[in-house]
Amino acid sequence: MIRAQKENKEALLEVEDLVVAFDTEQGRICAVDGVELELAKGSVLGIAGESGCGKSVTALSIMRLLPKPVSRIMGGRIWFKDQNLLDLPIEQMHTIRGKKISMIFQEPMTALNPVHSVGHQIMEVFHLHFPQMGSQKIRIAGKEMLEKVGIPDPDKVMKKFPHQLSGGMRQRVMIAMALACEPDILIADEPTTALDVTVQAQILDLIKKVQSDSAMSVILITHDLGVIAENCDKVLVMYAGRVAEKADVGPLFQNPLHPYTRGLLDSIPSRAKKAKTLLPTITGGVPSLLNMPDGCRFAGRCPHAMSLCRRGVPEMIQHESGHGVACHLYAKAL
Ligand SMILES: Nc1ncnc2c1ncn2[C@@H]1O[C@H](COP(=O)(O)OP(=O)(O)OP(=O)(O)O)[C@@H](O)[C@H]1O
Ligand SMILES: [Mg+2]
Repeated sequence: MIRAQKENKEALLEVEDLVVAFDTEQGRICAVDGVELELAKGSVLGIAGESGCGKSVTALSIMRLLPKPVSRIMGGRIWFKDQNLLDLPIEQMHTIRGKKISMIFQEPMTALNPVHSVGHQIMEVFHLHFPQMGSQKIRIAGKEMLEKVGIPDPDKVMKKFPHQLSGGMRQRVMIAMALACEPDILIADEPTTALDVTVQAQILDLIKKVQSDSAMSVILITHDLGVIAENCDKVLVMYAGRVAEKADVGPLFQNPLHPYTRGLLDSIPSRAKKAKTLLPTITGGVPSLLNMPDGCRFAGRCPHAMSLCRRGVPEMIQHESGHGVACHLYAKAL
């Protein structure tokens, strides 16, 4: 389907009302329920939220890489340059994946093949997307890509196998492969959580540098709000498969609206230290996706929950331009 008229001219990628279900032994669960997001050209969007809230499922839906046959996209549209990715034949998706939209994962070994050398794998990316390029040129391009992501002595690294490299180096190789075709969008799903702190900072700096040099758009998924504050322009906070709040990074940190976002921010060490208090935590746990309450999914843990919150699903309310919150506390009718 081609989009007749684009509402948001700035957005390179727009996810509308995405619903993704998984069939599990216990029954069907709705892991993502009505997620909406926009990614502007050249900007960095952070997605935050607790483990299991649907960050990776959202990313994998965009890539059309959800595990089959357990998962199913029940509804929604994913617009990339006026094309709904969910309607594309899979062969066409192959030409977009890696070339126009790339993804890097928390654990590079999920993307790297243990039985092939680094050189073979990076050259493979060029072979796949630029079959007309000769082998000599591909070898040079592969080497240049490794150099670009800060790999010293790329000739030597080309001959190595993934298990012979450190975690940080493997992550750099994966980034090199993801960036080889100069994609319009890079989706980085927890790209640094498996790495130690210094290497984490180096990898994030690298992504940021490539992003600003090439005006690439980035979706950065992380449970670390500090990483979002430092690296993103906009942020989406997810809770139990839904978007709780979305805003530019400044307003979100200065004026968080959703009680869940406030809870998340209050549990950041630096903030609590300034207030000289113990770190508060959000009490209770995320409800099971198998047994979701009616109404707001956060109501059971929310200090402000009202009876309405247990009845009706809160709509996304525009508080200020670009700052939306899905919470009954902000409903005009109150
Ligand atoms: N292969 C699967 N089979 C069944 N359910 C799944 C599967 N993958 C994900 N889910 C369900 O989807 C929900 C969202 O998963 P997702 O991987 O998107 O979480 P996440 O926000 O990325 O968490 P994390 O921060 O731990 O990576 C999970 O809570 C789980 O119930
Ligand atoms: Mg995840």
